[in-house]
Amino acid sequence: MSLHLGDQAPNFKAVTTAGEIDFHEWLGNSWGVLFSHPADYTPVCTTELGKTALLAEEFAKRNVKVLAVSVDGIAQHNGWIKDINETQHTTVNFPIIADENRVVAGLYDMIHPNASATFTVRSLFVIGPDKLVKLMITYPASTGRNFTEVLRVIDSLQLTAQYSVATPADWKHGEDVIVVPAVSTEDAIKKFPKGVKVVKPYLRYTPQPDAK
Ligand code: BEZ
Repeated sequence: MSLHLGDQAPNFKAVTTAGEIDFHEWLGNSWGVLFSHPADYTPVCTTELGKTALLAEEFAKRNVKVLAVSVDGIAQHNGWIKDINETQHTTVNFPIIADENRVVAGLYDMIHPNASATFTVRSLFVIGPDKLVKLMITYPASTGRNFTEVLRVIDSLQLTAQYSVATPADWKHGEDVIVVPAVSTEDAIKKFPKGVKVVKPYLRYTPQPDAK
């Protein structure tokens, strides 16, 4: 069964480099990023996990817990982590699931048989504190993900969960946002005291409500 935005993120128990976890319990009230990798000791994955570790403070600032998935075992993961730390000048500080039986890969549809029968593709899920799926992105094995983009989307998800706004193309934290169509301009003026700029009746901007 494939997952869709807004679905409950499937729960699972898994062995990880930080011990056994129950996914939903482990998430607690945090946001989560669950992301898969084709295999251990592969070059692009090494840079991705290194980059994620380097961004630890950025994820923590946003109350996001990160959990990686790879279909190799714990001994291999632990050896690979040493290489990641050495080559990417960081310390991997998030768990990696040893998904040897491909349980998590199956639940999250991370194996795309026409890409590879055995390896997971680069899937990434953002899960909200309500345990619902907020974002799904899938990259092929040959293309490393952009983790600055992942943080940017998390900023948008967290903002739009709180206010009746949406974020325009290429938006970054601190820039103007769009008033959602469901809010009339009259109500928008009351809701957004920083001001509403009406470009078209359906295209209305307001400064980011929670930006200083
Ligand atoms: C990598 O992570 O470097 C990789 C994995 C599978 C195919 C190509 C690249």
